[in-house]
Amino acid sequence: MPEKLTAAIIGCGKLGQHYAETYSALPNVELVALAEFNDARRAVVARRFGVPGFKDAPEMFENIIPDVVATVLPGKYIYSAVMSAVQAGVRGISSDKPLGANLSEADEMVDACAANGIVFAGGNLQRAMYEIQEAASWVSNGDFGEIIGASVNGFAGEISGGGCQAISVLRLFTNAEVTEVTAWGHPEEALKGDSDSGLAIDGRFRLSSGIECSVFSESAVRGVDVWSEDSLVRWGWDPPISVFRGFDKHGSRIQLSPAFSSYEWGEYHYLGASIRSFLEVVRSGRGQLAVSGHDLRQALEVAIASKYSALWGSVPLRLPLPDRSLQLIPSRARWLGQDPNGSGQPIDEAHIRWDGYMPEKRHVAGK
Ligand SMILES: NC(=O)c1ccc[n+]([C@@H]2O[C@H](COP(=O)([O-])OP(=O)(O)OC[C@H]3O[C@@H](n4cnc5c(N)ncnc54)[C@H](O)[C@@H]3O)[C@@H](O)[C@H]2O)c1
Repeated sequence: MPEKLTAAIIGCGKLGQHYAETYSALPNVELVALAEFNDARRAVVARRFGVPGFKDAPEMFENIIPDVVATVLPGKYIYSAVMSAVQAGVRGISSDKPLGANLSEADEMVDACAANGIVFAGGNLQRAMYEIQEAASWVSNGDFGEIIGASVNGFAGEISGGGCQAISVLRLFTNAEVTEVTAWGHPEEALKGDSDSGLAIDGRFRLSSGIECSVFSESAVRGVDVWSEDSLVRWGWDPPISVFRGFDKHGSRIQLSPAFSSYEWGEYHYLGASIRSFLEVVRSGRGQLAVSGHDLRQALEVAIASKYSALWGSVPLRLPLPDRSLQLIPSRARWLGQDPNGSGQPIDEAHIRWDGYMPEKRHVAGK
């Protein structure tokens, strides 16, 4: 029998509740506590999941130290929650994205976990999705031949918030790090502001594999493409993966219908896949995380480099950026949470399961 782990959620807004649902459903893990600032939401969610609720991470750790914690917090509060989990001595920490605003804090979190032997994972990222991981394994097995090009499509709106998804998939598909960023940004007021809200980036990422990746702020299909001489693998959000091989007599790409494996707990979508990989690495002390804290840090760094390259006149910036004090604040709702905008989840909705993060339900709702 795999070892049964205990888990707690820090931050129980709409996404934190989806984490609580998922941890409660998966085998060999028991949700034992939660921490939530908002008194009314804490009371409702703690009752719903039948666990004790605490105000914040320090209060929780005074009472209970679970094996793993998931921070599902507005960006401003992630650093202190992660560092208090490090001090408490948990075995694993996962964070949702973006990891924060500031590179030095991102470094500190990654380094503190590594120095203390704590597994540091990412959370609800598409990169963890089984189909995306499987497509990446086809690419790295050479099933499509040598990858010679890549593009990031639709890198705009929230380049550190939503953009984190694209950078994480790009690095997975190319098995490479971004080593240099050259970017152009618009509109000017977004480029000159502190936050990534509304910022649209075009440019070029140089990758450690030698590939030059084009970056487009606008594109018919949003996501990431990688291609070889005759094939194209596309992550385009929905459907997550499209594969093309060869050309018809008009020169158009021919789309394939690849057979994906079926996966246990697939109904818990990419959060389920991400958490399962996290728990497996915590249990075994080895293996590859579907999404790591390093992945989140790299995504933040590419977003910061894109903004500053554009701001400073499209100068090529080599990564790692030497100035670790650089930062990019995510949109207000991601940075401070939705409550300060008055758009937080109403308390009466916190009583019940919200299926917006479950794919089948999302498709039905979209019809
Ligand atoms: N990966 C994804 O697909 C995805 C999707 C949506 C949101 N997110 C990220 O996840 C985060 C949470 O999203 P959400 O929609 O649930 O946000 P939210 O603002 O509705 O919920 C955050 C919750 O955390 C609580 N909180 C804030 N600071 C706290 C602290 N220090 N200790 C304990 N509780 C605290 C708030 O009271 C609130 O209930 C967001 O910041 C966002 O960036 C990721």
